[in-house]
Amino acid sequence: MKMWYKFVLCACLCLTTVMYAAKAENTPSDNTSNDTQLSGEKAVQVVTACDGRKKVIVEGCNEGDVMPEQKARKVAELLMTLMEFCEDEIIARLPKTEMSIQLSLNGMPYVTVRDIAEIPLLFVHGGKVHTEREKKVWAAETGRMINEGYALFHNPSLGKNGISCDMCHPDTANTHPETYPKYQTQLNKAVLLRDMINWCIENPMEGEKLAEDDPKMKAVEAYIISARAGKILEPGKH
Ligand code: HEC
Repeated sequence: MKMWYKFVLCACLCLTTVMYAAKAENTPSDNTSNDTQLSGEKAVQVVTACDGRKKVIVEGCNEGDVMPEQKARKVAELLMTLMEFCEDEIIARLPKTEMSIQLSLNGMPYVTVRDIAEIPLLFVHGGKVHTEREKKVWAAETGRMINEGYALFHNPSLGKNGISCDMCHPDTANTHPETYPKYQTQLNKAVLLRDMINWCIENPMEGEKLAEDDPKMKAVEAYIISARAGKILEPGKH
């Protein structure tokens, strides 16, 4: 980040803090809290981003309202922009009438920007998008899921007759996850990888099929897909 940005950001934050403190002093009943629960009597709808750490408080809409398309697009665009700042907890407020956006980063007082394009200038991370810690957590968690899948694939526990996947698919040979969805004659319809995993569990292995959201199913899928890393996706290919 360029030095002058740092300076401007610092100055903005300090100024806002001073204004915030002054406001809180003058009007103690005014609700300037960052807590989304305390958004006062106003009609608001709180939309949470996919990481659970960013929220957009849409003023002038009630929880459960269907937003007009233009508003919904703006909220989606805002959430996607905020997602670039992956470590941070960010609360954004979209006032009902003004065109501005108010943002609070990691519990700091709100700062106001005029439009979404200005946000990156406020919260620059010095070009470091993902932290080392984040990368380690992601690698460890992904590895754990894949290892669970490896264990299930190399073990007869998914079936009832002592046969395991690897006896017929050593190192995931001929599983072709990159070709799904595709039509499979045994099932007489287009299916996903998980449907063929269940087919093999129920047929050669005489086991009981797994629910689609069973963690074991997810793990086996994760292992098979990871073993085919780099393959070009060719849905429908035979
Ligand atoms: C007795 C041998 C055998 C066992 C055990 C077996 N499979 Fe299969 N599997 C096959 C055969 C043969 C096919 C090819 C069927 C076809 O495409 O018509 C197949 C197909 C598949 C496919 C689809 C492949 C493609 O080309 O689209 C997947 C995925 C798969 N098996 C996963 C598994 C998993 C996971 C297990 C363990 C839970 C397992 N299989 C156990 C023999 C086996």
